[in-house]
Amino acid sequence: MSAVPSAGNGKVTVPSILERKSAVVLPDSLPRKIACLTAYDYPTARLLDEAGVDIVLVGDSLAMVVLGYESTLPVTLEEMLHHTRAVRRGVKRALLVADMPYGTFHAGPAEAVRNAIRFVKEAGAEAVKIEGGERSVEIVQRLVEAEIPVMGHIGLTPQSVNALGGFRVQGKTEQGAEQLLRDARAVEAAGAFAVVLESIPREVAARITAELRIPTIGIGAGPDCDGQILVIHDLVGMAFGHTPKFARRYADVGQIISQAAIDYCRDVQAGQFPSDEESYHAPRREAHIGSITRALR
Ligand code: KIV
Repeated sequence: MSAVPSAGNGKVTVPSILERKSAVVLPDSLPRKIACLTAYDYPTARLLDEAGVDIVLVGDSLAMVVLGYESTLPVTLEEMLHHTRAVRRGVKRALLVADMPYGTFHAGPAEAVRNAIRFVKEAGAEAVKIEGGERSVEIVQRLVEAEIPVMGHIGLTPQSVNALGGFRVQGKTEQGAEQLLRDARAVEAAGAFAVVLESIPREVAARITAELRIPTIGIGAGPDCDGQILVIHDLVGMAFGHTPKFARRYADVGQIISQAAIDYCRDVQAGQFPSDEESYHAPRREAHIGSITRALR
């Protein structure tokens, strides 16, 4: 399948994501709930795409789960572009969204448009994600005007870690919940095609989901959202340190890699790897090889 949408080729597009919000579910239509995951490299992207994931996000969580930083703040535009290009080569069916990292849209809409265009032109992203609700409205509007679809992101926005004083559940007070509603409405009005709701009470996420016309994608926001997203390293057991309670682990790939490395070290150290079957052999009938072999004895 080409990564370019054409009628009936099954490619997930921005309009097809918007359709999933529709109340009408025909028997042969796509499931309404939208399954999203992050990816940062070609093989993972390919596996997720072939598994039927609808949206692959090159999240700025790259900073933490791949590059080993303590927050998402240090990851650069160039690093995000590099990983988005790798993911692009692995994704054919899913919609490819790239996260705008900290510092690439904070100086204003002109900078945001310039940087978002790089994700589209140089890395093949089909949409970008922008953190922030009411405060990011002008930026979302300008990106949409520049033909760049935008996924919003409200609630716990990791780029605000210093302002928020840590990674904390948002919207637990009435005032906080009202702010989240205003943020969600603002992002929708600005033209976003979907909005991520991160680490907020289930009840607040359900209310936002019921009110918006665009799909909500939850992460730590309960089951009533229109879709869900997780960081792939949490899903497969490749993350270190604290994992939040919403991050269901479907596999323990970390343990598998660890055991494979232990077994490999043991075999190399004991001279049991490689075996004769795993070695190349010189063609014995060749005279010159024969003399080389004799010389080596
Ligand atoms: O960076 C990221 O991975 C994200 C998702 C968790 C939504 O923003």
